[in-house]
Amino acid sequence: MSEYATAWKLPAGLFALLTFAAAVYGEPDGAALVAEKRCVACHDETEVLLGPPYRAIAARHAAQADVMVEVLARKIILGGAGNWGVVPMVPNEHVSEDEARAMARWILALD
Ligand code: HEC
Repeated sequence: MSEYATAWKLPAGLFALLTFAAAVYGEPDGAALVAEKRCVACHDETEVLLGPPYRAIAARHAAQADVMVEVLARKIILGGAGNWGVVPMVPNEHVSEDEARAMARWILALD
């Protein structure tokens, strides 16, 4: 085997590894985030707590899920009221935009 061929293998292997890592870690994990960011204090997947269940949110917004990722992500960070009742959602300013989008996508993908 020529030195040239061997020299190519390492960068190619590294590139494959990095591509794989980006696919796995590029988008924060929405399911893990809702647990980590204490959304669970007010939301359950199926039960009404202080806030509406994630499955109800997904069902309501299913028709415009693409647009709703941004709308819900903003509401997750800034808080808001009036869509589900009189109780407002508090702002969650410890959540980044990427994290909020990942959680919104995870919620909207529930059925
Ligand atoms: C203090 C309680 C509380 C916490 C903590 C909380 N929420 Fe909420 N959430 C609510 C309430 C109440 C509503 C309903 C607001 C309304 O009527 O518009 C709501 C609504 C929502 C909605 C639906 C918005 C809409 O317009 O349909 C989403 C999505 C959501 N919350 C996600 C989250 C996520 C993700 C977290 C964690 C980062 C979180 N919430 C933390 C109380 C909370």
